[in-house]
Amino acid sequence: MRDYKRFLKEKAYINGEWVLESNGATFEVRNPFDNSKIAEVPDLGREETKEAISAAQVALEDWKNETAEYRAKLLKKLFNLQLEFADELAYILTLEQGKPLTEALGEIKYGASFIEWFSEEARRTYGETIPTNAKNRRILTIKQPVGVVAAITPWNFPNAMITRKIAPALAAGCTVVVKPAESTPLSALAIGILAEMAGIPKGVINIITTNRPIEVGQELTSNPIIKKISFTGSTHVGKILMKQCANSVKKVSMELGGNAPFIVFDDADINTAVEGVIASKFRNSGQTCVCTNRIFVHDSIYDEFTYKLSKEVTKMKVGNGVEKDTVIGPLINESAVNFLSDLVEDASTKGAEVIVGGSLDKEKGNFFPPTILGNVNEEMDVFNKEIFGSIAPLIRFSKEEEVIAMANNTPYGLASYFFSKDYARIWRVSEALDYGMVGVNTGKISTTVAPFGGVKESGIGREGSKYGIEEYLEIKYICVGGL
Ligand code: SIN
Repeated sequence: MRDYKRFLKEKAYINGEWVLESNGATFEVRNPFDNSKIAEVPDLGREETKEAISAAQVALEDWKNETAEYRAKLLKKLFNLQLEFADELAYILTLEQGKPLTEALGEIKYGASFIEWFSEEARRTYGETIPTNAKNRRILTIKQPVGVVAAITPWNFPNAMITRKIAPALAAGCTVVVKPAESTPLSALAIGILAEMAGIPKGVINIITTNRPIEVGQELTSNPIIKKISFTGSTHVGKILMKQCANSVKKVSMELGGNAPFIVFDDADINTAVEGVIASKFRNSGQTCVCTNRIFVHDSIYDEFTYKLSKEVTKMKVGNGVEKDTVIGPLINESAVNFLSDLVEDASTKGAEVIVGGSLDKEKGNFFPPTILGNVNEEMDVFNKEIFGSIAPLIRFSKEEEVIAMANNTPYGLASYFFSKDYARIWRVSEALDYGMVGVNTGKISTTVAPFGGVKESGIGREGSKYGIEEYLEIKYICVGGL
């Protein structure tokens, strides 16, 4: 391992300076594996947040007036640096978040791919000319940056959820104030170091570390200088932020919770479906918004599927993310473990069968074993709540219409998956699922090149792809008269 400590910063980043809280307030960042202290970072509040917003406002003037080529080149440098120091960044990510090193490295590369993609998109924010409605005038549109953006990001992807927001924002000509999650500020600060190394001008990226998310969130959502909030996190917090943004009518992008169905039809390839569940259910120990939440299996293949899935899940090694061969790392904290235990208990009381795992070994810190629950139904919490952990609930079904109705019976609409070899069914079910994203015969759908986002209470807007940059642009219509 090269010197990861070089990227382990214990100061926040405002206006190109590494700063402390004015009274020296700090909070500890702990390793979810054993709760040991990794670092101590500034606990910034409203005043420092205002300073960061002002810095971003001042920086905006030059940044938005630079050429797209200039912004693209700096982003490309940032991309190259993130890859050059991927090992160091991944190590810090595992220390503060817990995911296995191979997954952390995958996240750093995934995060870098957004920077590369949007460095390219920077040059393609085209306007258009519109056929005129009068002979003596011409009509056209241009695209302009929305202004200063606040990015509020989650702990489950401490690098990629930041780059997925700041790369399109910067490419569009916006400046940003980033507020990373309290449990994972170190990966965010490491991005600040890379930004400095890349020569991104002061004030363009500002990073607020805080253990006072409500106070800082209120400033970000009420300050009139902020023109847009991009948030990834729970639906509950997303709704609060949206309400707070209403007073100053900010644009919002919301990437919120999910309750992803995973349907295995009787004509599916069962082995591929098992691989698909493993990929989509157990990634990041089940702590992603697109993780499979409910697995619907056709009655006629239920037993075979359950047997094959159980065989694979039993092999998964649970342990410290930095150890080789670990597949399931710790959950983010103890309350996450307690939440999963409660889900298992509720389901068992209501008639579910614990096929694999289920109970937790108290000696082992924030761990929860990979678990399979059989005979789950709509009355159980595990069917209705976002699990955000390594529980795979199996539900039997017999008819296509019935399973689509059950799959759509949720306020969420982020990711969905199904497995079938029937091409007519593939079209029918893809169109019938009320979700922003559908994986057909695959459990891996996340990629820079495709639009990531949800419908219903799972969110507003899209990230990644050619659509991602549009979230940071306003369309201005210009009418040239008197010709
Ligand atoms: C998330 O869980 O918020 C994002 C996961 C992904 O990009 O695949």
